[in-house]
Amino acid sequence: MADYQGTVVEIALKGISVNESPQAFTLEVAAGESWHDFVVWCLARDIKGLENLALIPGTVGAAPIQNIGAYGVEVARFIESVQYIDLASNQLQRIACNDCQFGYRDSIFKGELWQKALIVGVTFSIPKDWQPVVTYGELAALHSPSAHDIFNKVVEVRQAKLPDPRVVGNAGSFFKNPIISAAAFAALQKQWPKVPSYPLETGEIKIPAAWLIDQLGFKGQFEGGIRCHPNQALVLTNAEQGTGEQLLALARRIKSAVAEQFNVFLEHEVQLIGAKGKVVL
Ligand code: EPU
Repeated sequence: MADYQGTVVEIALKGISVNESPQAFTLEVAAGESWHDFVVWCLARDIKGLENLALIPGTVGAAPIQNIGAYGVEVARFIESVQYIDLASNQLQRIACNDCQFGYRDSIFKGELWQKALIVGVTFSIPKDWQPVVTYGELAALHSPSAHDIFNKVVEVRQAKLPDPRVVGNAGSFFKNPIISAAAFAALQKQWPKVPSYPLETGEIKIPAAWLIDQLGFKGQFEGGIRCHPNQALVLTNAEQGTGEQLLALARRIKSAVAEQFNVFLEHEVQLIGAKGKVVL
């Protein structure tokens, strides 16, 4: 997979402004701010709500594109609007949260506005009536936690499982957790009684792709220099100067093994860009 031949722009816009009402903080944040630093900045000012999203790599401007989420919280719940430059007209536009088509690791920026919008800022509305979200396994053990307690636990859990992209190249979860029908889940569970599951409001069931990949023994396996992370099967790392081809080969191997064994079809969460743009797995 050759390097991308087009132009890549790194958004370096910085700045955070805060407005306060009795109910909420409204924060206008430039797209180039580091996401994690922004979470820390908020907590230091007693603005609580983003603590579950600590240590997610990347920028504030990237956060809405895939609607970053972790430990029971998705960023969409705090987004009021997103400001972007319409690349066709060069006009500044603002799109309201309700129009962003936010879904599980998804938004209009990955669909209709793909390559048409350059995000320059995000406006967040963070309610002052803070409620801790401790539904996720390892957080459930915390008793009456403060936002700092949750932040610290999330950092601890992430550091134990997920490789630091500054040390070993990776893009977090490579695949999305598949969402299947209740009937498909019943069939899967019959054969694999231990399969973990998260029922959704729609009646469908989300299952952890990491568990499926783990059952097939991929953890720790190499394809050239690309490795299925030994502590979290859903993460593929560039452990030993791997190539794009090796990454695609391992991803394809995992995808077809999961389909064959479990009849479940994985979708990649990571955007794959080749010389001419998006690559299909
Ligand atoms: N599991 C295994 N083997 C593994 C890893 C996990 O069997 O190697 C099992 C665990 O036992 C657990 C389940 O899989 O029952 C879920 O694992 P984990 O809690 O690590 O979370 P995940 O579903 O693999 C998702 C997100 C992560 C997010 C965590 C925590 C997706 C695609 N990934 O991972 O997000 O940090 O939950 O909320 O939804 C990302 O999107 O890049 C990302 C890292």
